[in-house]
Amino acid sequence: MKKALITGITGQDGGHLATLLHEKGYEIYAIIRGQQNPRRSQVEQEFPYVHLIEADLTDPSSLVRAMQTAEPDEVYNLAAISHVGYSFKDPQLTADVTGKGVLNLLEAIRLTDTNNKVRFYQASTSEMFGGLDYNRPGAGYDEDSLFHPRSPYGVAKLYAHWITRNYRESYGMHASCGILFNHEGERRGLEFVTRKVTNAVARIKLGTQEYIELGNLESKRDWGYAGDYVEGMWRMLQQDKPGEYVLATGETHTIREFVELAFAEIGLKLTWRGEAEKIEGVDQNGVVRIKTNPIFYRPAEVDILLGNPAKAEKVLGWKRKVDFRGLVKLMVEHDIELESPVKLI
Ligand code: NAP
Ligand code: GDD
Repeated sequence: MKKALITGITGQDGGHLATLLHEKGYEIYAIIRGQQNPRRSQVEQEFPYVHLIEADLTDPSSLVRAMQTAEPDEVYNLAAISHVGYSFKDPQLTADVTGKGVLNLLEAIRLTDTNNKVRFYQASTSEMFGGLDYNRPGAGYDEDSLFHPRSPYGVAKLYAHWITRNYRESYGMHASCGILFNHEGERRGLEFVTRKVTNAVARIKLGTQEYIELGNLESKRDWGYAGDYVEGMWRMLQQDKPGEYVLATGETHTIREFVELAFAEIGLKLTWRGEAEKIEGVDQNGVVRIKTNPIFYRPAEVDILLGNPAKAEKVLGWKRKVDFRGLVKLMVEHDIELESPVKLI
């Protein structure tokens, strides 16, 4: 039985990955931080087969202890301060966790894994590309595209990406980086735009909310389903050689398109009025459903992300299964179920 150690078990990808590795027969360890992590009991209920170990990416000795306890074959580093907007508000903590935390984990592996057998996955990101005009390839970003991160989060992730490559080159570690484009689903945090929208759409359908306040509606993202993407992570660590792989759908859509599709799922058709940072989305009954609020705009924006997953498709045999429409539908349906009052018989 293979053993895996996951960081970020309380997050979106951690949940999908634990499910996948359990299905594949792994013994799973995961680190959890904080004296009273509010998500601990949910993790314990949902994943009773996961052994939890107290540790924090900013505490190097806790990571050494986690490695000694788990003695894993594979380590998946999914933990991070992962919200781009938040990273502007707390850039130093973001650097400590999302950037230097990865160095702490690599060192813990190097110091404990004397036979150099551990395989390591680093959660790199399309945010490292930055979406700038001069840097935008027509067929989408691939593993050789230029980096130009546009947020403290993107900069911290770029450090993490390169330190992972450096440990591979310096110490012969089997260390791979998945450069993942946005992936969403029913486990997505409510602070990210897709889930914020689908959850609000569900509440609008149920009559408990009237409208949503959003920021930039014009940026474009390459959105896939998280369940498909954790399969790609696992495949990277099953290769004989480590490497970098883009996971993406190869399609890009504006936030506005996502919003329109989500509302269409509940029978509301939006039309738009206004411009710049004062835009409103109005439904066919004349009710304002979308308002923009400057607090949700970022100091620097990544205008467009589009990925080219050709290498992952060819080498890993990976392909996303859920398409854009399927993703929106899945999320809206899930949130309607979640927000509905308990049905009494
Ligand atoms: P997420 O839902 O925000 O989860 C982040 C996880 O990091 C949480 O479990 C959180 O645990 C943990 N964490 C935060 N600070 C920590 C610390 N100091 N020590 C240990 N754990 C800490 O993120 P996600 O969407 O699952 O993404 C997983 C990874 O992939 C992240 O690294 C993210 O940056 C990266 N990524 C995500 C996407 C995407 O579209 N989802 C795309 C590319 C890359 P707590 O409960 O303790 O807060
Ligand atoms: N969060 C949020 N909230 N974003 C909004 C809002 C809002 O109210 N209104 C508009 N947006 C826009 C953001 O400005 C951004 O252009 C886009 O929606 C997507 O924002 P997020 O959903 O927060 O995701 P992200 O693309 O910034 O970052 C996610 O994907 C990255 C991969 O490209 C995160 O999961 C990162 O961790 C990940 O690396």
